[in-house]
Amino acid sequence: MSTSARPLAPPHRRVRRHLLSSADLDRSQVRAILDTAAEMHGVQQREVKKLPTLRGRTVVNLFFEDSTRTRSSFEIAGKWLSADVINISGKGSSTSKGESLRDTVMTVAAMGVDALVVRHHASGAAHQVSQWVDAHVVNAGDGTHEHPTQALLDAYTMERRLGDLEGRHVVIVGDLTHSRVVRSNLITLRTLGARVTLVAPPTLMPSGIGAWSQADGFDLSHDLDAVLPTADAVMMLRVQRERMSGGFFPTPREYTVGYGLTRPRLDALMAANADAVICHPGPMNRGLEISPDAADAASSLVLDQVSAGVAVRMSVLYHLLAGNDEGEDS
Ligand code: CP
Repeated sequence: MSTSARPLAPPHRRVRRHLLSSADLDRSQVRAILDTAAEMHGVQQREVKKLPTLRGRTVVNLFFEDSTRTRSSFEIAGKWLSADVINISGKGSSTSKGESLRDTVMTVAAMGVDALVVRHHASGAAHQVSQWVDAHVVNAGDGTHEHPTQALLDAYTMERRLGDLEGRHVVIVGDLTHSRVVRSNLITLRTLGARVTLVAPPTLMPSGIGAWSQADGFDLSHDLDAVLPTADAVMMLRVQRERMSGGFFPTPREYTVGYGLTRPRLDALMAANADAVICHPGPMNRGLEISPDAADAASSLVLDQVSAGVAVRMSVLYHLLAGNDEGEDS
C-alpha cells in the first residue's frame, strides 16, 4: 500500500475461522494474505504506523514456549491494527502453579477475547485450543508440527526478491526431524507451485518422509553440494538441540562440514546463481548450520523475513478478525 489512506482490499471470504495449519489455505487464500501483507508493509514504512481496522478487538498472545520474533511481531501487528493486545507466557502465568492448558485457555477466553495466538511445545496444542473456545485461534508454532505464519512470511519474503515462486527451486536444509517450519513451508511452497528439495543427513530425515515426498511431489537428498547449484532459494533450518535426545550427528563440526552453509558453499551458490537468496527462520546457530558470512551476505534475507513477519501477521489478523465472524470452522 502506498502511504495514502487507500482502503484495504476486503478480507478473503473463505479464510477460515482459525489458522492452525498451512493446509487450511488454498492458493487463492495464500494469495489474498500475501497481497494484503504487501499493503500492510506500506503501513510499516509510515511515520504513524496505525490503522483503525481492529479497534475494539482483543488479541491474546498465549506463549508457553520461548519466542522473540513470533511473539513480538504478533504484538506489534495487533497494535498497529488498533487491537488491544495482551501477552501471557507460561512462566508468569498460573500454569506454573499447576493449572491445566484447558483451564488457562478457558479462563482467558471467558474474559471475552476475540483471538488467541498460541505457541506450545506440544504438537496439536493449537488445534486442541480451537476446540475449547469461540475465539479465533492462530497456531504460532506447536511442537514439531506446524508454524503456518512462518511459512507465509517466508513465501512473502522470497516472492519480493524472486518474483512468482511458480517453478522456482527452494532447497530446505537441516534438522527436518524436529522442524515445524519445514512442514508448513512445504505445504505453502507447493501450494504456490514452487519446486522443493529437502536436504538432511539420514538421521535427521523424519520417518515416513519417503512416502510423503512421493505423495506431495517434492525431492529428498543427503548431498547438499549436489543440490545447491540448482537453488533459487536456500533455507537453512536451526539444529534444535533442545529437542534432541541422543546423537543425531557425531559432532557439531561434522554437521557443519556436511550440511552447514559455509563460506565455500556460499561462494558455490553465488557462482551458480548470483540471484539466489538465503533464508533462515531464526534463531540462528551461527557457525553450526550457517556461517556468519552466509548469515550476513547481501543475498541473505534473514532480516527481511523478520520485517515481513509483522506485515504478514497483520494480514492474517485482518483476514481472520475483520473477515468473517461467520467463517467456516477449521
Ligand atoms: N522463527 C521463529 O518462530 O522464531 P521465534 O522462536 O523467535 O518466534
